[in-house]
Amino acid sequence: MRSVFIKTYGCQMNERDSEAVAAQLVAKGYTLAPSEAAADVILLNTCSVRDFAEQKAIGKMQNIAADVRKNRPDVVLGFMGCMAQSRGQELIDRLPDVDLVLGTQKFHHAADYLDEILAGHRDKIVDVAAEQGSEATIREHLLNGNAQKSVTAFVSIMQGCNQYCTFCIVPYTRGEERSRSIADIVAECRQLVSQGVKEITLLGQIVTSYGKRGFGRAELPLGQDAQQRVPTTKKTSFVQLLDAVHEIDGLERIRFTAPHPKGYGDDLIEAYARLPKLVESAHLPVQSGSDRVLKLMHRGYTRDRFLGIVKKLRRAKPDIGITTDIIVGFPGEIEDDFEQTLSLAREVQFDNAYIFKYSQRRDTPAAGMPDQVPLKIREDRNHRLLETVNEIGKRKYHAFVGRRTQILVEGPSKKNPARMTGRTRCNKIVVFEGAERHRGQLMDVKITRAGSFTLYGDPAIVNL
Ligand code: 5AD
Repeated sequence: MRSVFIKTYGCQMNERDSEAVAAQLVAKGYTLAPSEAAADVILLNTCSVRDFAEQKAIGKMQNIAADVRKNRPDVVLGFMGCMAQSRGQELIDRLPDVDLVLGTQKFHHAADYLDEILAGHRDKIVDVAAEQGSEATIREHLLNGNAQKSVTAFVSIMQGCNQYCTFCIVPYTRGEERSRSIADIVAECRQLVSQGVKEITLLGQIVTSYGKRGFGRAELPLGQDAQQRVPTTKKTSFVQLLDAVHEIDGLERIRFTAPHPKGYGDDLIEAYARLPKLVESAHLPVQSGSDRVLKLMHRGYTRDRFLGIVKKLRRAKPDIGITTDIIVGFPGEIEDDFEQTLSLAREVQFDNAYIFKYSQRRDTPAAGMPDQVPLKIREDRNHRLLETVNEIGKRKYHAFVGRRTQILVEGPSKKNPARMTGRTRCNKIVVFEGAERHRGQLMDVKITRAGSFTLYGDPAIVNL
């Protein structure tokens, strides 16, 4: 029997794509190898969002290729995902041991292409073309791996992005926005829930633009029945999707990522207040606190508008956990712009923020902008912002100590498998002394201690 090992770089969408490819290969009789050393097929699912991610995957493939060439020449090597999409044939020119380069609209062909290569019918395959309908092909799940129950699952609802932020490579690696139908997504979610899943995260590059463009050919966002039940509505398609997923019996929690702040209209804010399964958590990538930089980035909102969204969300759900992404050292960012980012971070009091040093990406407008910021300044700003964000995060996490909160238990803690881990509705990880029987349970814990972006809890004794 053949075995495959897939290593994933980058975002949750990549995690999901890898899972779907693994499920597809398992259905064709492959086993999943525990490491690359034991695999007949090694695939790297790549990320292009920053140069560092690309270099890591290339370095990894160089090491693998050197070993394979020397010791196991029959092993098949492949790149898939965003870097495969943006570099294509160039990857094989640079790394001639690579056999397969699979673009972001081609994951569903992985098994067939590997068959052809393994059978010796084709030597190298590079497929990075656009493919109509590919948004609906990421649907197979690897549930209950290792005979353990999956409590959470990711469901891809759309692909691509039309926002064209000037720093971002995603519109070029993931293509135009294309959405699956509500009926199709709900069917997948129902299936997952029937297999024991309690929490679903709806995924896409810009989920708040769900359904704005390009539903698969002539398909309505809602199935015909639902279309009749919900007549004229002012709700965005995304909120209509949330409503539909919310109706699934047995589903306990709904999350989504990644949204765009401009997609937080009143209908979505109102959905947080109205839909109990929609958890109090929002990842709102702000990128910068300076209006001048936001404009150069083509973000489509101002600092004020962003602050207004945060205020409305907190009015609707006072306990909402808010996280963000911030880029430091975007071309033209001067000290004053950066200080506005610092002040925005202090004003919002994010629960956590992912900070990135600006990285020039090929074909993006910002790569050609004047006043690129030297690395040393980008590093300095990264460091200063990180200190601020960590200090705020620490305070926010410590504020939970002594409180009782609901968690959904996901499984053993990765760091210490003797303990169990769960997540609060506001998306904070809680580690506690638990047992396998707690997996999949919604339970109350009392928070006893806060570590670095982790909470520690005791199962609460409920006295009725
Ligand atoms: N340089 C640095 N960070 C980037 N991101 C996207 N493109 C770049 C880039 N060129 C960050 C943004 C985005 C996150 C996923 O990655 O903050 O929200």
